[in-house]
Amino acid sequence: MINSQRSALPPGDFGLPIIGKTLDFFTDPDFASKQHARHGPLFKTRLLNQPTVFIKGPDATRFLFSQEGDRVVVTWPPSVKALLGPLSLALQTGSVHAGRRRLMAQAFQPRALEGYIDTMVSISDRYFQQWTEISAQDDSLTWYPQLRRYTFDIACKLLVGLDDASKTTLGNLFEVWCAGLFSLPINLPWTAFGKAKRSRERLLVALEALIRDREQSSYSPATPDALELLLTAKDDDGNSLTIEELKDQVLLLLFARHETLTSALTSFCLLMAQHPEIRAKAEVEQNELADQRLTLETLKQMTYLEQKLKEVLRMVPPVGGGFRRVLKTCEFDGYQIPAGWMVLYQIKQTHQELEIYAQAKKFDPERFDLEQFEQKRKPFSYIPFGGGLRECLGKEFARLEMKIFAAKLLRDHRWELLPEQDLAFTIAPTPVPKDGLKVKFF
Ligand code: HEM
Repeated sequence: MINSQRSALPPGDFGLPIIGKTLDFFTDPDFASKQHARHGPLFKTRLLNQPTVFIKGPDATRFLFSQEGDRVVVTWPPSVKALLGPLSLALQTGSVHAGRRRLMAQAFQPRALEGYIDTMVSISDRYFQQWTEISAQDDSLTWYPQLRRYTFDIACKLLVGLDDASKTTLGNLFEVWCAGLFSLPINLPWTAFGKAKRSRERLLVALEALIRDREQSSYSPATPDALELLLTAKDDDGNSLTIEELKDQVLLLLFARHETLTSALTSFCLLMAQHPEIRAKAEVEQNELADQRLTLETLKQMTYLEQKLKEVLRMVPPVGGGFRRVLKTCEFDGYQIPAGWMVLYQIKQTHQELEIYAQAKKFDPERFDLEQFEQKRKPFSYIPFGGGLRECLGKEFARLEMKIFAAKLLRDHRWELLPEQDLAFTIAPTPVPKDGLKVKFF
């Protein structure tokens, strides 16, 4: 990539003045695929009054990730910025971001992750039991809202040591806050954004109380949670996080994992129910390992399960892509991308590249069989967790939680889809089956 003032702008249509193609983008889930089919891996349009270039594919995403912080910088919609708070890692850039990432990564090292396993297992057992009872009683379980509660309870226990958080005020505040994240940033008492702003204030008060309690008490969890690790972690100059920053960072971690993991687990449950032959093969692997305790070591042996979870994230990536603002005009593939424009990298479209993923629409975990896949592998062709300097900080945490959930579910339970439900995905803001995934669970 080189600076150029001469090359052409990418193909594509800006649409109407100001509004551009914003409505198409929000209402048509296939907007990007259709435009890519017409224009290729890069096209320009206008979103929220911003000229924006959509990009897809390993070459384009590699170009973007390699320019992070120099020619492009991460950006989020105004509603997300306001609700995450100014000290959030997701909004920091440059050396401040790099230093904070190193500090926060201490809560996601293998030793920390190993310490999270027993809690994940016991919360899973409790929920699986409840789901069996609900399904037996009502002849049906609407799984998605239950999975939201499940992932929130695990998050709160492992991040801040709270039990059964989904049943508390914190759980309600968090749901209202989430509902405003991707809304129009109009701060009025009745708007989603206004309600979320007020929830943020109350969430911060609750988090501060939790943090101060922890600082003042002699309580220290048997296996440290993320809060414990973050309270003791030091940056490169030997300083700890201030309480103001700690609150914003904990809120970011709750947000970053909640919608994403819930969507990923829901897609796993749906795809397993739709592909009984794949599920049967995964059960064989689990039966072979059934007498082994779940540890990082035993989880590593579940290679087929690993392939399946990879394929779930390829087919239905929870995050659609990421926005970057162009700091300096640059050129890619013969096209100019001017300073001040936005770039949106596309994860789902990148996962559909036919030269890497033959029959890309087919759910086929064996495409990730190492020997087969290595031959076709191209860097940045598989990016459910993004890439480069801003790759997902919780990637290993997420993979661990998915694996434990899936292994336990396959070992101990069965589920069947109920008829007459809409299984098409809606984006809210992550992909979720429209009717919330109704199953019989036993
Ligand atoms: C299946 C689950 C998950 C998926 C698919 C996912 C995906 C992503 C993606 C694509 C990004 C990069 C966004 C961009 O390039 O603009 C990201 C960033 C991030 N994720 Fe995740 N994530 C998941 C789970 C988690 C978990 C469990 C945590 C932590 C508890 C987490 C923490 C973060 C953080 C802190 C960032 C911002 C990193 C930075 O800006 O340096 N994520 N995630």
